[in-house]
Amino acid sequence: MKKGKKLYEGKAKIIYASPQKNLVIQHFKDDATAFNNQKKAKIDGKGILNNRISEYILSNLNQVGIKNHLIKRINMREQLVKAVNIFPIEFIVRNIAAGSLCKNLGIEEGTTLERPLIEYCLKNDDLGDPMISREHILTFNWLNESTLDLITGECKRINDFLQGLFRGVGIKLVDFKVEFGKTSNDEVILADEISPDTCRLWDEKTEKKLDKDIFRKDLGNLIEGYQEVARRLNILHQQPVLKPISFPKPKEVKIKKK
Ligand SMILES: Nc1ncnc2c1ncn2[C@@H]1O[C@H](COP(=O)(O)OP(=O)(O)O)[C@@H](O)[C@H]1O
Ligand SMILES: [Mg+2]
Repeated sequence: MKKGKKLYEGKAKIIYASPQKNLVIQHFKDDATAFNNQKKAKIDGKGILNNRISEYILSNLNQVGIKNHLIKRINMREQLVKAVNIFPIEFIVRNIAAGSLCKNLGIEEGTTLERPLIEYCLKNDDLGDPMISREHILTFNWLNESTLDLITGECKRINDFLQGLFRGVGIKLVDFKVEFGKTSNDEVILADEISPDTCRLWDEKTEKKLDKDIFRKDLGNLIEGYQEVARRLNILHQQPVLKPISFPKPKEVKIKKK
């Protein structure tokens, strides 16, 4: 598929125009950033893994009726998606305390929350994506009440589905961030990506981190963590171990004399 012009370049992805009206191409880069762009690195293969994992999750969500922007993956790094106007809000769903919840409120990391907690942040890098309340969203008309309620409901459904999906492969879904937008038909749908860049995923038994915290906190090899997630979801191409071919010794052929 021929890419059109670059429409937007973010920290982890690039959005290109596509030949089809109302569709755009989402390209996954290898760039990793953390702490509002203060820590940066290029990690070979991250974009490929996130493209595949996000495709898998969004197509599964689609099958359970959670509308989203994914049309199809078109190559190792790119997917065709519906173009949307992204709402300027990041929706964060938490099941276990980690990250800014611990830092800002002094909750101990790993505390299981009695019920999923939804937080809203303004999507604005210059302001450091500040946390906002429902009242801020309504006061400044970033979303109307019915859209906010609809998205909040979708966040809970996405959480239920993802918790089950990951629990089935021995992973705890600690928290995740999602973005929504409006299509040209005024439909409100899930957009962006769901991947180990945007979720906290811990191994059920060891609580080993399999997500971007590996990069944030220098905990080891990020690609190994992401590959582990893909392997458990059964979407990683396994390289067969090639054994050297052993030929049997030729047998002596006895020719009968006539
Ligand atoms: N379907 C879509 N249509 C238009 N924009 C999208 C779509 N899905 C995601 N985006 C936006 O494209 C950008 C993706 O690049 P990313 O590197 O994640 O950016 P950022 O640095 O802003 O997080 C994001 O700003 C995201 O909101
Ligand atoms: Mg982003």
